[in-house]
Amino acid sequence: MASAAAGEVAIIGSGLIGQSWAMLFASGGFKVKLYDIGQQQVTNALEKIRKEMKFLEQSGSLKGSLGAEEQLSLISGCLNIQEAVEGAMHIQECVPENLELKKKIFAQLDQIVDDKVVLSSSTSCLLPSKVFAGLAHVKQCIVAHPVNPPYYVPLVELVPHPKTAPATVDRTYALMQKIGQSPVRVMKEIDGFVLNRLQYAVISEAWRLVEEGIVSPSDLDLVMSDGLGMRYAFIGPLETMHLNAEGMLSYCDRYSEGMQHVLKTFGPIPDFSRATVEKVNQAMCVKVPNDPEHLAARRQWRDECLLRLAKLKRQMQP
Ligand code: NAI
Repeated sequence: MASAAAGEVAIIGSGLIGQSWAMLFASGGFKVKLYDIGQQQVTNALEKIRKEMKFLEQSGSLKGSLGAEEQLSLISGCLNIQEAVEGAMHIQECVPENLELKKKIFAQLDQIVDDKVVLSSSTSCLLPSKVFAGLAHVKQCIVAHPVNPPYYVPLVELVPHPKTAPATVDRTYALMQKIGQSPVRVMKEIDGFVLNRLQYAVISEAWRLVEEGIVSPSDLDLVMSDGLGMRYAFIGPLETMHLNAEGMLSYCDRYSEGMQHVLKTFGPIPDFSRATVEKVNQAMCVKVPNDPEHLAARRQWRDECLLRLAKLKRQMQP
């Protein structure tokens, strides 16, 4: 099976994100070694992957051209980091979001890798200049930040360290495309990268509107799910501007003054005070009670929606 594989990939950390990466790489025909610190973690991860892949196959949503059994046979667990990375062309780190831990892992990898493999971190918000500081193989290092759940949401932000070689970015970009993800190049590191900066801008204004009693929490969410979000699943905010007038130039001629007027009324960064947190929590719990069963059921429903949306997006490709 190894000789038939598209290449070998090592995943460091077999939690939620490590499992998703393993499934994505296997769907692209890559041989995957899934490394973790304990047998129990690896066994759990492999079981969860098996269950998920079978479900996806039954519902006709399994990615890639191989069947579930073939994909599963590409994934193996590993408790030795050196063995895990041996022969790998790409290493995807997925340990918990803790700078010291990630630095320790990359320092360890730095000692054992060759000059060819790409060292990639899944970090959501740690800057590459912090995570990869002082590594001998820094040219081969990059952040590839996925979006949860990565199997259903294809975006991956590629964020280089200032010393990352352009070839590392290009190779990672091509690899992400090969496994069916949608990579974007973030040219320079910045706190929050791009996705979370946009997300926090939205959360920030949502919070202020609810806090000021302009709109209820559930109606606020509806503005996104039945309003802006309907378009945003297909076109971004800039293309929305382009299409909402006779092109971008006409949109800015018509609306830039109005936008600036509204933007000037935006308030300061929310302090997420206890009173507003409780008000929002109460409204959320009416819709989805915050016990594990209800939350899990709602997540499952969300993933099914995303799966069907992904199908629709494929069908609607111009
Ligand atoms: P998780 O807690 O589900 O999994 C972490 C795994 O790493 C566990 O299996 C743990 O046993 C293992 N681990 C701990 N120390 C280790 C070590 N020294 N060597 C090897 N494995 C070790 O965490 P999750 O959610 O999978 O997150 C992983 C990374 O992905 C984090 O950096 C996170 O910020 C990022 N990420 C998470 C997203 C999410 O929504 N959960 C979305 C995008 C990125």
